[in-house]
Amino acid sequence: MQDHVTVFEVGPRDGLQNEANLIPARDKISLTDMLSETGLSRIEVTSFVSPKWVPQMGDAAEVMAGISRKEGVRYAVLTPNLRGLEGAIAAKASEVAIFLSASEGFSKANINATMAESVMRAREVASAAMDANMPVRGYVSCVTDCPYDGPTPPHNVAFMAEALLAMGCYEVSLGDTIGKAVPRSLTYMLDSVLAVARPDQLAGHFHDTDGHALANVEVALDHGLRVFDSAVGGLGGCPYAPGAAGNVATEALVARLHALGYTTGIDLAKLEEAGRFAIELREGN
Ligand code: HMG
Ligand code: MG
Repeated sequence: MQDHVTVFEVGPRDGLQNEANLIPARDKISLTDMLSETGLSRIEVTSFVSPKWVPQMGDAAEVMAGISRKEGVRYAVLTPNLRGLEGAIAAKASEVAIFLSASEGFSKANINATMAESVMRAREVASAAMDANMPVRGYVSCVTDCPYDGPTPPHNVAFMAEALLAMGCYEVSLGDTIGKAVPRSLTYMLDSVLAVARPDQLAGHFHDTDGHALANVEVALDHGLRVFDSAVGGLGGCPYAPGAAGNVATEALVARLHALGYTTGIDLAKLEEAGRFAIELREGN
């Protein structure tokens, strides 16, 4: 039997959140609907964050209300606090994601909290989500490098990943937020995290600033990870991570996985069509 890899599409959220001009909700809905037809089973659609912090995601409720939900596809949203969780529940998200940073500089810049404060806040959100029977995914950002603090100590990442799993996250996505990881730094970090988590509890989330993302996917595959986040069209960046480029493109990820002999269940031609539309949205900006 071939080895299966799950692709977690983050284009509508991580891909679009950094676009300066507001993209109409109807276009975000069309992109998500196109992605639903490609064979993807997990799509992160939007985030219920403060519109003062990320104006592009201010239409989260409208986007969630407008998408056509396909059976078998899970529609995730990001929730930084209890208010975001309320929005996600009202919007009937399939699951929510909470996010922490393994570095102080990015934690403060991205969510206005120290690492310690962010763990307390995330625990509160995870606990309320579980009371509402809402599955929770966790993110750790800056897993090898931080735009403010430089290299990230691997034990910080292991600490945050262990905390998220203890809160009840079913999976922790390890974010190379600024795309600076290289196979060597990634290996140090993964060895540290795999001392506290099983590979099937982890996902890889690689931005592609320096073109190392696909090499990093292969390193993570060798460490047993079988879930990877990516953005169609290679869209992306984070408003609070200066210099961060897009996520690894879903088309490139899927093509590489197929070439390596993994199955994904994704139709590459349909994905490329969605990629062209995603790039048009960005170029329209
Ligand atoms: P704060 O300013 O400390 O908190 O922000 P606040 O409670 O004072 O809220 C500020 C204003 O936002 C208030 O409005 C709140 O009501 C409102 P005002 O009273 O001034 O009119 N507000 C909200 N509105 C809507 N929905 C909400 C919400 N919460 C507060 N949920 C906060 C703290 C966490 C809210 C803010 O820092 C924030 O929203 N940050 C999110 C930043 C973000 O979305 N970053 C990108 C996603 S993370 C990422 O991309 C990394 C990832 O891809 C992995 C990787 O690559 O590493 C996941
Ligand atoms: Mg990201």
